[in-house]
Amino acid sequence: MLSSISRASAMSTSRNTLNAAAATRLSSIQRHLSTTPSAREGKIERLTVFGAGLMGAGIAQVGAQSGLKVVLSDVTDKALENGLNIIQKSLARVAKKKSPDDIEGFTSKILKNIETTTDAGKAVEQSDLVIEAIIESIKVKRDLFGFLDSKAKSDCIFATNTSSLSVTEIAESCSKERQEKFAGLHFFNPVPAMKLVEIIRTSQTSTSTYEALKEVTLRMNKSPVTCNDTPGFIVNRLLVPYLLESIRMVERGDATPEDIDTAMELGAGYPMGPFKLLDFVGLDTTSYISQGWRDKAEAGQISKELVQPIELLDKLVKEGKLGRKSGEGFYKVSHMIE
Ligand code: 3HC
Repeated sequence: MLSSISRASAMSTSRNTLNAAAATRLSSIQRHLSTTPSAREGKIERLTVFGAGLMGAGIAQVGAQSGLKVVLSDVTDKALENGLNIIQKSLARVAKKKSPDDIEGFTSKILKNIETTTDAGKAVEQSDLVIEAIIESIKVKRDLFGFLDSKAKSDCIFATNTSSLSVTEIAESCSKERQEKFAGLHFFNPVPAMKLVEIIRTSQTSTSTYEALKEVTLRMNKSPVTCNDTPGFIVNRLLVPYLLESIRMVERGDATPEDIDTAMELGAGYPMGPFKLLDFVGLDTTSYISQGWRDKAEAGQISKELVQPIELLDKLVKEGKLGRKSGEGFYKVSHMIE
């Protein structure tokens, strides 16, 4: 009991320090942008999000919370219903803190900012910004953006939430003009709680597009950072090799997942150890990212040793033990964070 109290207090102290640093950085960027002329022009008011899964629903939610008019689009009504459920649950959590006396009023006010449709063309008709958070397939993403290019307004900005694909290759499905208005906008899971957004500039992304994206992410109460279009951008480039190496440690018999998690939480101040995080993100997602990077390793863009296949990871994915989404990964669902 005592150890779980001191563990919780150690983690909460380190999180508070991190939150204070993020808040100071956020307000200084916000001050800078409020005086930048380009940020005041062509303000983004209407957002369309493609993909009503965990990431897409989270992005739609934070957009709606920041006052944007949001259209959430997916291919089936069932997917949209699922997305709205995710949003409702998360909003109830936010409302408990922000408006404890009127949870329903708070939730319904934000939900009024969200419309849904399965009609992709209609979804972007009025949009100032499109964010795509659909499956990690270069072909499907390129097909979607190629289709949307002629449907959206000429000044509409296109962004992809890809975590593992090249933003440049996705953008090349659009016209030259649109490629200037195309960037990566990478959010983190759980979107409503994680403060970071990576803005990925390709060699074609214009400065006004970049500034508009920076401004809208700040309005969403996020802290933007900027990165070139390189494998994994900033976070995944560092995080994925760390997660893979932690699996190799277990495979070698160096330590148990439980002890490695405790070590990284209490010794390095991480909110979740690597195995809790692997289960949270999904073992299939991590496996998919590392597979994709093997091609990039062949092309010399990333070191081969970092992304060597791991038998234990492949075995768990093959058995359908994907983490939280399937009820079991390195841990059983009863031990997982909701
Ligand atoms: N909706 C709304 N709010 C949420 C939420 C959700 N789904 N999940 C958590 N929160 C809020 C809580 O309400 C709470 O808010 P408060 O501090 O204002 O009270 C805060 O987040 C912390 O949540 P809890 O107190 O419930 O639980 P924890 O303190 O254990 O935090 C966690 C949960 C935020 C998930 C934390 O464990 C964490 O930061 N984990 C690491 C997550 C991470 O690393 N994500 C990145 C994964 S990589 C990725 O996404 C990239 C992709 O490309 C693979």
